[in-house]
Amino acid sequence: MLYNLVMKDYYTISEAAELLNKSTKTLRRWDDEGKLVAVREPMSNYRVYHRNDIQNLFPDFLIENNSQLNNYVKPNNDYKVLELFAGAGGLAIGLEKAGLKCEALNEIDKFACQTLRQNRPHWKVFEGDIKNFSFSEFKNKIDVVTGGFPCQAFSYAGKRLGLEDARGTLFYEFARAVQEVNPPICIGENVKGLISHENGNTLKGMISILDEIGYNVVPVEVLKAINYKVPQKRERLILVGIRKDIQIKFDYPKPFNKIYNLKDALKKGELFDTDVPISGGAKYPQSKKVVLDLVPPKGYWRDLPLEIQKEYMGGSFFLGGGKTGMARRIGWDEPSLTLTCSPAQKQTERCHPDETRPFTVREYARIQTFPDDWEFAGSLAQQYKQIGNAVPVNLGREVGYSIIKFLNSYYSLKSKS
Ligand SMILES: C[S@@+](CC[C@H](N)C(=O)[O-])C[C@H]1O[C@@H](n2cnc3c(N)ncnc32)[C@H](O)[C@@H]1O
Repeated sequence: MLYNLVMKDYYTISEAAELLNKSTKTLRRWDDEGKLVAVREPMSNYRVYHRNDIQNLFPDFLIENNSQLNNYVKPNNDYKVLELFAGAGGLAIGLEKAGLKCEALNEIDKFACQTLRQNRPHWKVFEGDIKNFSFSEFKNKIDVVTGGFPCQAFSYAGKRLGLEDARGTLFYEFARAVQEVNPPICIGENVKGLISHENGNTLKGMISILDEIGYNVVPVEVLKAINYKVPQKRERLILVGIRKDIQIKFDYPKPFNKIYNLKDALKKGELFDTDVPISGGAKYPQSKKVVLDLVPPKGYWRDLPLEIQKEYMGGSFFLGGGKTGMARRIGWDEPSLTLTCSPAQKQTERCHPDETRPFTVREYARIQTFPDDWEFAGSLAQQYKQIGNAVPVNLGREVGYSIIKFLNSYYSLKSKS
């Protein structure tokens, strides 16, 4: 584990790449350019990087990356994922980046399926309503079933629920797939609001259903994307089920101290090797543009002249509450607010810092930490929707490390028994 390497003087190219969140290709380029030059390790004579050289380039290297060291775990096997409700693949590529293999994915939206197929032709994409698919062919062949099922209420709120009580909901379909596949671990992801949905009864119902089908649920946590190298204040609830015959602890990924901001998302820097590529994007209607022209970076509707505030906010003006997301212009030195499925949507404007326009498609993708070469299919509106729906890739990667850690322990114990 890289955790043990904190005090080392020398780092191999793959260790340095992982710690700096750069590709080994980038490091090789830096070596050629003289930006970060590898040296010969005195004992082994391998080409490695000296800690001081890395620190000269990244002064925070050891301080800020200590926590990063904890999460990376190398998989001992080719672990297989079945990803349900896969959307445009935010979680799937995060898990792939961590070292997991996406064996199969399901998604109903044809444009999202097209996105998955065009970027990863080798992925097995089951297109269509989940309720029409059986996953029995994967029984005992998948290591983790994952899925961001849309949140729906159950009618038996308050009682102890069994799987049949949830029939008709998408959580039922998730749990059914888990039951059919019988993986050691399953992971559901959802919005934070699931905790309070129907006074907490929806979540309680899900936990009792997972219990009924043979899975213990780890205490639920809400992970803040900004703590996982995502320049966006997005939160995701993680629901982890562990098959009852397994007594291994699941550790959530440890949060990083360093917070990335919009500049890190759109400009060349630690998160990305280049400035954001140019791409198409939505426009604000003229009536909105003239209002947002008056809002400074990091400002919102309260920064408008009083009369314009009243006119723009309409009835909401008198309702009270901060509504800091309305008529919002994001600043370069802060993370973006949560991106929505449609960038010019009323009440959730996230305006570009320098220009009065929504973020372009590629800017949206950067804020969700999608790689620049991940192309989205469909119209502009379809592309924004796929990106806005996604789990940020870097958050998915960190969750992936936790899954790998769990599976390594599981299979290592199993081989001994
Ligand atoms: C929150 S999004 C998932 C995002 C995805 N995990 C990611 O990281 O990009 C939920 C997805 O569930 C899909 N979905 C909704 N109902 C479905 C159904 N009945 N069968 C299959 N997929 C469905 C939606 O089209 C949407 O893409």
